[in-house]
Amino acid sequence: MAKSENIVWHDSKVTKEDRRGLNKHKSAVIWFTGLSGSGKSTVSVELEKELYSQGVRTYRLDGDNVRHGLNKNLGFSPEDRKENIRRIGEVSKLMVDAGLFTLSAFISPYREDRDEVRELVEDGEFIEVFVDASVETCESRDPKGLYKKARAGEIKGFTGIDAPYEEPKNPEVTIDTDKLTLEESVQKIVSYLKEKGYLE
Ligand code: ADX
Repeated sequence: MAKSENIVWHDSKVTKEDRRGLNKHKSAVIWFTGLSGSGKSTVSVELEKELYSQGVRTYRLDGDNVRHGLNKNLGFSPEDRKENIRRIGEVSKLMVDAGLFTLSAFISPYREDRDEVRELVEDGEFIEVFVDASVETCESRDPKGLYKKARAGEIKGFTGIDAPYEEPKNPEVTIDTDKLTLEESVQKIVSYLKEKGYLE
């Protein structure tokens, strides 16, 4: 895979631990996965606001946003989705190294691709949040009108319709947005972060 040769890692004199010390909190990727319309972006936006109000440094990476820039040359084939997640995994890792809580919200439909991101970072730095809402619920919300287009055959390979979504087997947190309010969903993640010592 690697195309570059003769490259040598150059260490910094300021480490991830130093940056965490300055921030007075840990850093990790909070990885949201779920169908389009499940609520990943909505929950991640509110969680970021809540963390910010508690003085926690964050950065949010979101499928639709990242596909406007960094990943605008990628589509929705399995290979392109894999590359999408690989790049975001690497960016998330850099941000964890920078001392931030990184909120990454991507459908990330393939278990293997998500697990590769988990492997990329250190133990305890990958918090998988399964945003669990049924296809029926997401389709009834259809905030961008994409399910309608997929049903009409105007979009091919749409996740949940004619492309797969592989649910996480052991996510750190599951948010059932069919049942929980937005506030309850955010609180569930904040509670997890406190319980596991990520936050004070
Ligand atoms: S992922 O599968 O590669 O993780 P990502 O989260 O970046 O997807 O982008 C998903 C967003 O792209 C959806 O919320 C939707 O707005 C849009 N989209 C466009 N085409 C598709 C498609 N075929 N399947 C799923 N989402 C699509």
